[in-house]
Amino acid sequence: MKVYLIYFSPGGTTKKTVRNIAKGIKNVEIIEYDMLKKETRERKYTFSKDDLVILGMMTSTQLFGFPEEIFNAIQGNNTPIVGVVLYGNGYYGKSLIYMKREVEKRGFKMVAGGAFIGQSSFAPKIATGRPDAKDKEIQLEFGRNLYEKVVVNKDFSFQSKLKMNWSKDDAVTRAKCAVISALPGYSLKLPYSMNELNISDKCIQCKKCEKHCPVSAIHIVNQFIDRKKCIGCAGCINICLVGAISLANPTLINMMKKLEVTRADRKEPEVFF
Ligand SMILES: Cc1cc2nc3c(=O)[nH]c(=O)nc-3n(C[C@H](O)[C@H](O)[C@H](O)COP(=O)(O)O)c2cc1C
Repeated sequence: MKVYLIYFSPGGTTKKTVRNIAKGIKNVEIIEYDMLKKETRERKYTFSKDDLVILGMMTSTQLFGFPEEIFNAIQGNNTPIVGVVLYGNGYYGKSLIYMKREVEKRGFKMVAGGAFIGQSSFAPKIATGRPDAKDKEIQLEFGRNLYEKVVVNKDFSFQSKLKMNWSKDDAVTRAKCAVISALPGYSLKLPYSMNELNISDKCIQCKKCEKHCPVSAIHIVNQFIDRKKCIGCAGCINICLVGAISLANPTLINMMKKLEVTRADRKEPEVFF
């Protein structure tokens, strides 16, 4: 059996997670498709029932980035798939439910799912260093269980009932969640009004951010980030070696300060079979 890791991971936590899960699966060939790259999203991939796909996406309460492009790039033929979502210790909304619905429209059979916690893309004080050693152990165990279920026993069933994962903390977030879940579509982007970034003079012009950006919005030589293209994934902030790129929108900066307080309590991963 071949195991395919397909992920959209600007900050790297989703990629780490799907790789850890795959490490728990014995004796298989692993092939990776990094959907951060436009040319990878534009290709078409067809899988058979003897493959196993692990699909990882980050959440912004809904699915974030280019979920539609990614779903449309993949086609299964009764192919078992594992849905993995990463969130920043807040909540992952209906993202796993949407993922299951969309992949099953495209010939896949969801055999397991997992919601894992990654260090916040915008606020490194939230879920700092996650996935950490404890998360890694859970991810490896998830992979070992997948091996038994899918590779050894060829069991493609899915018994769990996926539920919405919303914050129950306060009336404002509850109302926000209700609005978000009522919106059409399954993907959210950072509003244009908030995606302002600052490049400081710490920048060493290594162009790592330019290469990492999923929409080619950065022109480092002239220190310019095209806000019309930018999707606000924070990939550039997280890949920068010298911490030269930072948030510049005061509303978003304030929001993050508040979240550092309300998202301080550690959440644990959830897995579903
Ligand atoms: C635009 C944007 C919105 C986000 N919204 C949420 C959210 O609603 N809830 C949450 O817990 N984390 C949220 N996050 C945090 C990410 O889901 C989290 O840090 C995840 O681990 C990032 O995955 P990556 O490292 O693979 O990019 C958001 C991140 C971004 C960039």
